[in-house]
Amino acid sequence: MQEQLTAILNKAEAELPAVETRPAFEAAKARFVGPNGELTAVMKQMGSVPKEQRPQAGKLINETKTRLQAFLDQALARIENAELASRLGPPNDPTLPCLDAPVGTRHPLTIVREEICRILATLGFTVREGPEVETEYYCFDALCTPADHPARDLQDTYYLPPMARLGNVSRKADERYLLRVHTSSVQIRTLLAEKPPVRILSPGRVFRRDNADATHSANFHQIEGLVVDRGITVCDLKATLDYLFQTLLGPDAKTRFRPHYFGYTEPSFEVDFSAKHLAKIGKDWVEIMGCGMVDPLVLEEVGLDPGEWSGFAFGLGIERIAMIIYGVDDIRHFYTNDVRFLRQFA
Ligand code: DAH
Repeated sequence: MQEQLTAILNKAEAELPAVETRPAFEAAKARFVGPNGELTAVMKQMGSVPKEQRPQAGKLINETKTRLQAFLDQALARIENAELASRLGPPNDPTLPCLDAPVGTRHPLTIVREEICRILATLGFTVREGPEVETEYYCFDALCTPADHPARDLQDTYYLPPMARLGNVSRKADERYLLRVHTSSVQIRTLLAEKPPVRILSPGRVFRRDNADATHSANFHQIEGLVVDRGITVCDLKATLDYLFQTLLGPDAKTRFRPHYFGYTEPSFEVDFSAKHLAKIGKDWVEIMGCGMVDPLVLEEVGLDPGEWSGFAFGLGIERIAMIIYGVDDIRHFYTNDVRFLRQFA
């Protein structure tokens, strides 16, 4: 019996690798393990095996069965792989560039954002990112914007429903999630994570409940700037902004500060700038951004001693600057993905 079983295994090992189709496989399988197959024939001899040799014979048969099954499984897996490969066709590299894909251009908002970051990088500013979904703490409370401030009103800010869960932004039990209304929230995230001196920029998208028109959009882009160090004054702020605008718009660009109010800066200013570009829109001065000296209460909130540290912060709208630089008369052009518009900035 042992010889018969070995012969079956040898035959299977020799024949099965040559089987290439499913019908041929099924036929081979029937030949070896089917009701009229070779292994079954050997099993039928069990009745004539002397009783004391039966356990040994049974063991041999079982071992043969297992090895035979392994040969069959192997052959079937090979046939299935071949079938799949023929269905998929010749292998191709999906990472290769498409031959006829048109080459795109950088978006004007990207160009302006990168340019501003590049200019300020020469003064040592580096970029930090913050989440677009924020909590009331980072967007308002830590920036001295109390609960009754109009910016916190449902009319002005998009809140997420209370059941919203976001794994990557933690909030206090009684806090609501919201879509950030400004990038100033990144000031707090940065100052809680890093020790001064800090000199950072944070570009990103912000959201407000505005009706879309030529100058308003419910989401737009800002760049936040923050410097905290020893001995920082309004002179540093003014000089930084002058340097930015003169590099961006040409040496004739000027800025002027008007007193204003922001909860998180004291004093606070609105900045107007003037440059030859403004001829395009027929104005001498255009309001461009908010800024100020970081309020001592903000520094205390993040655990810094206002007696030791001071700083300035600013927030500017990228769309606004891009509209002036390029003479774009409607903010909605930036978002409609019309290539006739977008190609002009390449
Ligand atoms: N967050 C203000 C806005 O969205 C802009 C701003 C004003 C940012 C003053 C600042 C700042 O960092 O100091 O209108």
